[in-house]
Amino acid sequence: MTISFILNGEDVVIRSEANVRLIDILRGSFGLLGAKSGCLTGKCGACTVIFNGRASPACLIPAFRVRGSEIITIEGFSQTNEYHEIMLGFAEAQLENCGYCTTGKILCAEALLERHNRPSREEILAGFSGIKCRCTDPEKLVEAVNITVDLRQRRHYGRSA
Ligand code: FES
Ligand code: FES
Repeated sequence: MTISFILNGEDVVIRSEANVRLIDILRGSFGLLGAKSGCLTGKCGACTVIFNGRASPACLIPAFRVRGSEIITIEGFSQTNEYHEIMLGFAEAQLENCGYCTTGKILCAEALLERHNRPSREEILAGFSGIKCRCTDPEKLVEAVNITVDLRQRRHYGRSA
């Protein structure tokens, strides 16, 4: 089938079997390697992308659901101011830079902040629930997001709100 969608802000068209996983399309057809193949069962979050505004596991999205969608990967997102603010927030909160989960955490943070200007602690923890990481103190994630919120508010309004 022919599938058109928006990938990192660009209109793209591919031909694919209907049930090929999005993670394989991104890595195989586009050479985008930032989303990792981990468990391939939706449990680890290593393959996270932003799919129609939600942080989602690309291993569970078949090609037929990609048609007409909007997808942001870490490669596209890393070109934005928002990415740099999240990275600063993560660094200030001393979150580990981990090859397995950091990409997913960054995209989870962005999807969360697109929905909530200033998320509550519970909303923040729920926002990262798709990432399987037992080595990060959840309070550090909350701190990182709160720092990012302040940076974003300052950029938009010249002050924290
Ligand atoms: S590889 Fe997709 S959630 Fe683990
Ligand atoms: S799995 Fe990456 S910091 Fe925990």
